Amino acid sequence: MNINTISDTILDETSSPEALREALDAFVRLCGEITDIRPDPSFDAWAEDSLLEAGVAINPQAAAHCATDCQRSVMFVRGVYAAINVLKVRFPGTPLEILYAGCGPFGTLLLPLLGRFSPGELKLYLLDFHQRSLDSVMLLLAEFGFAAHAAQTVKADACNYKHTGELHLVIAEAMQKSLEQEPQFAVTANLAPQLYPTGVFIPQRIDVSMCLADLKHEKELCGHSQKIDSNALEKSATRYLLGTVGTLLPEHAFEQMQLAQTNSDGRCFELEPTIVVIPMMADIVGFDAALFTRICVFGQYWLKDYESQITLPLKCHELSPLTGGERYRVSYQLGSYPKFHFERLNSE
Ligand SMILES: C[S@@+](CC[C@H](N)C(=O)[O-])C[C@H]1O[C@@H](n2cnc3c(N)ncnc32)[C@H](O)[C@@H]1O
Repeated sequence: MNINTISDTILDETSSPEALREALDAFVRLCGEITDIRPDPSFDAWAEDSLLEAGVAINPQAAAHCATDCQRSVMFVRGVYAAINVLKVRFPGTPLEILYAGCGPFGTLLLPLLGRFSPGELKLYLLDFHQRSLDSVMLLLAEFGFAAHAAQTVKADACNYKHTGELHLVIAEAMQKSLEQEPQFAVTANLAPQLYPTGVFIPQRIDVSMCLADLKHEKELCGHSQKIDSNALEKSATRYLLGTVGTLLPEHAFEQMQLAQTNSDGRCFELEPTIVVIPMMADIVGFDAALFTRICVFGQYWLKDYESQITLPLKCHELSPLTGGERYRVSYQLGSYPKFHFERLNSE
C-alpha cells in the first residue's frame, strides 16, 4: 500500500474495521521503515518524555504509537479532511495556513491527506517540542513526494508559541483519556485565539463527565463486540451521570485559563470546580465512579466511550469505596501533570 491508497481507505466511509486497521498498520510500517522510528507505547518509560510546564510532551516513539489507535486516527484524519474542505469554501483562493501542533514523528493526522491537495493550496507549520519528530516528518514529506508543499517545522512549546499572522486551521492532539498528563487544555487555550474568527480548531469539543458505572461489566460487553458501539453500550449498561466535570471548547479555553484560581493548598491553578453527590443506592457496591471522555473532532466525526485509547473510562480510585450521600468537589488542575482532582466535602 502506498500513502495514497492508505488515505483512500481511511477516508472511505464504507471501509471495514479490518481494512482500516490494515491501512493504519501499513502507514506505521511505511513511516517506521523510512524514519527508523519504531512505535512503542512505553519507550524508555519517561526518560525521553519532556516534562513541560503545562504537561508532558511524550517521546517520539510513544507519539508514533498513537497512530495505531485505529478509530482515533481514522476519525481525526476524516475530521481534518472535512475541515480543510469547509475552509477552502470559506477562504476561496487563499492558501490555508495550517498549524499542526504536536505533529509527532509521523504527522499522522495530516500527512495521509496531502496527496489530495495541490502545492499552493496549503501552508503547513508542523510544530513539536521534539526535534527528532520534526526531522522525521520532513523526511516523510520528501519520501511521500509531498516536498513541493509549503511546509516548515517549528520547534516550540505549543503552550506559548506565537504564530506570525492568523491561522485558518489548528490541529492538536496532545491528550490522554480525561485530559490527564498531556497539555491539550493549555495548548488549546494558547492556540485557539490565534485563529481567524471563522477558522477551525481540531478537536472542536471535548467533554469529560463523571458517572457511576459497572466498569467490569462494561469491559466484558466491549470484549464481546468487534466494533464498539458506544450508544448500544450506553443502553445495555447501567450508568448514573453525576455531572459534566469538564468541557474544552476552543473558543472558551483562553478565558477559562484566565479565570483559573489557585487550589486549596496553593500549589497549582485549577479550573472552576463542579460539585458531585454520590446517590444513595442499595446496590452501590457494584459500581465504580469513573470519568468518561467524548471528543468531537469536527462536525460528524466523534470519538465516544471505549472507541479509542483517549476515550477509555478512567476509574476514580480516590472515591473507593463509594458511600451514598458523599459530596465531592471535582476540579481540573493545570500544571506539569494536568488532571482531575477530587476533594471530599463534609456532608451537610
Ligand atoms: C499524543 S502525541 C500525538 C502525535 C500525533 N499528532 C498523532 O496524533 O498521532 C502528542 C505529540 O505532541 C507533542 N507535544 C505535546 N505537548 C507539546 C507542547 N507543549 N509543545 C510542543 N509539542 C508538544 C509531543 O511531543 C507528541 O509528539
